[in-house]
Amino acid sequence: IKKIIIDTDPGIDDAIAIFVALQSPEIEVIGLTTIFGNVHTTLSTRNALHLLEIAGRTDIPVAEGSHVTVTEGVKLQSSGYVHGTDGLGNQNISPPKGKPIEQTAAEFLIQQASLYPGKVTVVALGPLTNIALAIQLDPEFFTNVGQIVVLGGAFSVNGNVSPAAEANIFKDPTAADIVFTSGADVLTVGLNITHQVVLTGVFLHDPTALLAAVNPSLITYSEGVVRVQTVGITRGLTIFYNKQKRFVEVTEWSEKPSVKVAVTVDAPKVIELVMAR
Ligand code: BDR
Ligand code: CA
Repeated sequence: IKKIIIDTDPGIDDAIAIFVALQSPEIEVIGLTTIFGNVHTTLSTRNALHLLEIAGRTDIPVAEGSHVTVTEGVKLQSSGYVHGTDGLGNQNISPPKGKPIEQTAAEFLIQQASLYPGKVTVVALGPLTNIALAIQLDPEFFTNVGQIVVLGGAFSVNGNVSPAAEANIFKDPTAADIVFTSGADVLTVGLNITHQVVLTGVFLHDPTALLAAVNPSLITYSEGVVRVQTVGITRGLTIFYNKQKRFVEVTEWSEKPSVKVAVTVDAPKVIELVMAR
């Protein structure tokens, strides 16, 4: 049974992903870590605790993540126009009873990965800040962690916050570049995949990434290097390079480790599983 930590910015599709995860017998959710994105980090933590209370799973620890980006000079912007200013559709949620644990998200990720080397899958459903911090703080994290499944990027399609960028990558592009070039076993599921997984107008971004972690046969992937544009009008752009063609003079690409980029998805099956669970 796979141990899963969900790094999240709830977020309506994050909420669906968390509920699907809690109903998935193939995995054990060992913690939630929170990050800014759809809302600021404090609100993400409140929402994560709230969702676990609704699900009756207050046994699962929540570790609060970073309040600032790894990328310098980036202004944090919430996505109230998509998820409501509270992240969960403006439902007037009362404050949760529970509290986050003492450890930060990065500390919790590092600890769990070293406790269960190769056994922990991190499903990253928000900006990749906490994962980048874990990689920077612990030189063994990238080998200790089993797999990092990311909802992020837009490969050969337009983004959703700009023509170039998908939201999670855009909000901390340097963090994303650190994760993609870390040498960890990374699988990323981008908008080219999740725009095929639609529930009467709602894209199932985060549930698709979560289910790709639960059941790898739902997607196929290509392997290659992914780099992220960190500045300018194309900030957050994700470029995939399959290492077939050699660019001898550009070692920033050819010498980086490969990641897995999802290229096809069984969308009807993903929707069926989301509805069932
Ligand atoms: C991603 O951005 C957020 O709005 C969603 O929760 C998802 O993680 C999609 O670009
Ligand atoms: Ca999300």
